[in-house]
Amino acid sequence: MKLVPATESLALYLANHATALDQALLPGEAIALEELRHETLTFTGSEMQISKEQGSFMYLLAKLTGARKAVELGCFTGYSAIAVAAALPSNGLMVTIDKDQDAMAVARRYFVRTGQSNKISPRLGNVTDELEKLLAEHGSGSFDLAFIDADKIPMLEYFELCLKLLRSGGLILADNTLWNGAVVNAHGESPAPYGNNNQDKNTVAIRHFNDTVVTDRRVEATLVNVADGIMMLRKL
Ligand SMILES: C[S@@+](CC[C@H](N)C(=O)[O-])C[C@H]1O[C@@H](n2cnc3c(N)ncnc32)[C@H](O)[C@@H]1O
Repeated sequence: MKLVPATESLALYLANHATALDQALLPGEAIALEELRHETLTFTGSEMQISKEQGSFMYLLAKLTGARKAVELGCFTGYSAIAVAAALPSNGLMVTIDKDQDAMAVARRYFVRTGQSNKISPRLGNVTDELEKLLAEHGSGSFDLAFIDADKIPMLEYFELCLKLLRSGGLILADNTLWNGAVVNAHGESPAPYGNNNQDKNTVAIRHFNDTVVTDRRVEATLVNVADGIMMLRKL
């Protein structure tokens, strides 16, 4: 088995070879997307923004699955919403949810500047409430793709709601499911840097999420080592 150690230079190399999303936008829109990355650096919690290569990866996944309707849990300043929206057809819908008004205000500006505002429907509010409203408005089985990237403790609850919302063959992407490697060491069996048997509540919740969905026969699961880890779940 070959493994490439995660280093700063590897991250830069990956970012430099992740152009799918930029290519999908007009030149001015791609510049705006880069400006969004810079503006987000001024925000507390700027590290929450997905990486450039993750954006490119999600763009391609949305394209490959032929998604038309997508939902995002955790918009923040909008980068991942734009990445997915760019892959949707012109009559597509990207619903993105966040409770942070300030972050959403930034996101809305960049939805316009990247030419995606006609496809993106931002919803200011709590994830669970908004997902339940979406289910009532659109019905179960009505969405093609869900990106789970909000708070980590209720991830299994979010998974259940997204599963209802998705059609058969739909794709759930759950972010941060490696949690900087901390999930690996449940029993302290792994060597450093993963050997400190981390038991903080987010780590425990994500570990439980991973262990649960991987044995759930309603989905096909694979956990990929992209950015902070993405659990990919295809609804059967
Ligand atoms: C990791 S960030 C999302 C990053 C975003 N996907 C991006 O690429 O820039 C998580 C976001 O989820 C929001 N959030 C966390 N818990 C939430 C909840 N229960 N309801 C609504 N929003 C929530 C936070 O306000 C934060 O903006």
